[in-house]
Amino acid sequence: MLIRHALPADADAFAALAERLWRSTYTGLIPAPDLEAHLAEAFGPAPQGAELADDARRTLLLEGGGELLGYALLHAHGPVPGSPAPTFARPVEIERFYLDPTTHGTGAARELMEAALAEAAGAGHDGAWLQVWEQNARARRFYVKAGFTPAGTTTFAVGTRVYHDLLLVHGLELPFD
Ligand SMILES: CC(C)(COP(=O)(O)OP(=O)(O)OC[C@H]1O[C@@H](n2cnc3c(N)ncnc32)[C@H](O)[C@@H]1OP(=O)(O)O)[C@@H](O)C(=O)NCCC(=O)NCCS
Repeated sequence: MLIRHALPADADAFAALAERLWRSTYTGLIPAPDLEAHLAEAFGPAPQGAELADDARRTLLLEGGGELLGYALLHAHGPVPGSPAPTFARPVEIERFYLDPTTHGTGAARELMEAALAEAAGAGHDGAWLQVWEQNARARRFYVKAGFTPAGTTTFAVGTRVYHDLLLVHGLELPFD
């Protein structure tokens, strides 16, 4: 397995990966019309091209056997929203963290998360945060194993519905502070 930074030229492949993994994660759990509406809005060469071109975002890709198998999307855009937890001075959101089902349980997610947190610390962030659907038990367990702690609740809209998410945070040790 290889972990590397996404490049602008990865936009089409990244879009296909992101769409495929979002679909495989939530199919059967979110009503199909809402799922399709969100997929149409959030994924495609244009939105992922914009994500890759955004100076506030960094994307790490997981590759294996010449295929893209997962990604971590980091987004530096301010404090933890609505969190009762101590806020970080320089937070980064792990905006999306998705791996191919063939890699689940293999340790690849841990490697990608370690790389993402190292990337964030190296960029000068002192804390990472993310939101996870309360019903995504596997992801919640993984994030606890990765050292994230609860920091409140929030919501996420998909199509016509609003879902309840948990906010999780992870402090980052800075080399210079
Ligand atoms: C979330 C994700 C990155 C975790 O990676 P992973 O390789 O599956 O994680 P691990 O296998 O290391 O850890 C998952 C843990 O959840 C446990 N688990 C699995 N299914 C579970 C369930 N239904 N309920 C509770 N725990 C569950 C596993 O046993 C394991 O815990 P353990 O190591 O103590 O046994 C990966 O599953 C993934 O990409 N899922 C789809 C995308 C997604 O949900 N992303 C998060 C969006 S916020």
